Amino acid sequence: MEKNLGIKWYDTIDSTNSQAARELDTAPEGSVWIADFQTAGRGQRGNKWEGKKGENLTFSILFRPEFLHPAKQFLISQICALGVSRYLNGKGLPAKIKWPNDIYIEDRKICGMLIEHSLRSDKLAVSIAGIGLNLNQTVFDSDAPNPTSIMLEFSSRQMEHAHQFNRRKELASLLGYIFTAYDELREGFEEELDNEYTENLYRLGEFHKFIETDSEAPGDVPVEKMAAGREITARIIGTDRYGCAILELENGERRTYPFKGIRYVI
Ligand code: BTN
Repeated sequence: MEKNLGIKWYDTIDSTNSQAARELDTAPEGSVWIADFQTAGRGQRGNKWEGKKGENLTFSILFRPEFLHPAKQFLISQICALGVSRYLNGKGLPAKIKWPNDIYIEDRKICGMLIEHSLRSDKLAVSIAGIGLNLNQTVFDSDAPNPTSIMLEFSSRQMEHAHQFNRRKELASLLGYIFTAYDELREGFEEELDNEYTENLYRLGEFHKFIETDSEAPGDVPVEKMAAGREITARIIGTDRYGCAILELENGERRTYPFKGIRYVI
């Protein structure tokens, strides 16, 4: 993808995903909206996304993946997750992808994504990839579970970094990784990308507890308000081509779950 396309940097905005949606008709592919602070940052499952002003990278990218059939929209999630995890690996951090597209360092969440698609007939017309990466924040007072940041991970590993990370520099580097993964997708490396995604899954092949949740619950019901589901012990072994998680139980039975159909116990 052509680099150095428009980056719009806001002091305060409701949500960069919402701003991207408002500019959808005119903005070129690769446009980026970033904000120091979001007053109505949106997370997955109807949750809010909060962060300290000016400390993190909260931004949205506009893709126009018309070369993809809508049934393949999960590939956009995969390339974004791969872009972020390659970027973190490049900084020496052991990033893993928690299905479908959270990024974890060990058992701590460093990045979340909200990817919104719109379709036109049999094409994936637009994908807005909203990414919240914790960069310099070291104190988290929201009730987000196990948050971490690049700064916290560098400190706890005693990795050399005396001052705060420069957000412009880090954004440019991170976008480079994401656009590279997107270019690989456009060039047809779907299988390679899918394999790399699977190899980098958090807790891949390890037995852990999961909760089966009600996937029919409306999208705006926060996960803690959903009916308590059934606990199972299983291991994630991959995803199917629609992005559903494939889990294997201890007796060898395999079950496939759509997004919201299963929750990790961490
Ligand atoms: C999650 O983990 O629940 C997803 C969080 C996604 C947050 C990002 S921050 C930039 C973009 N704008 C939003 O309103 N949400 C996404």
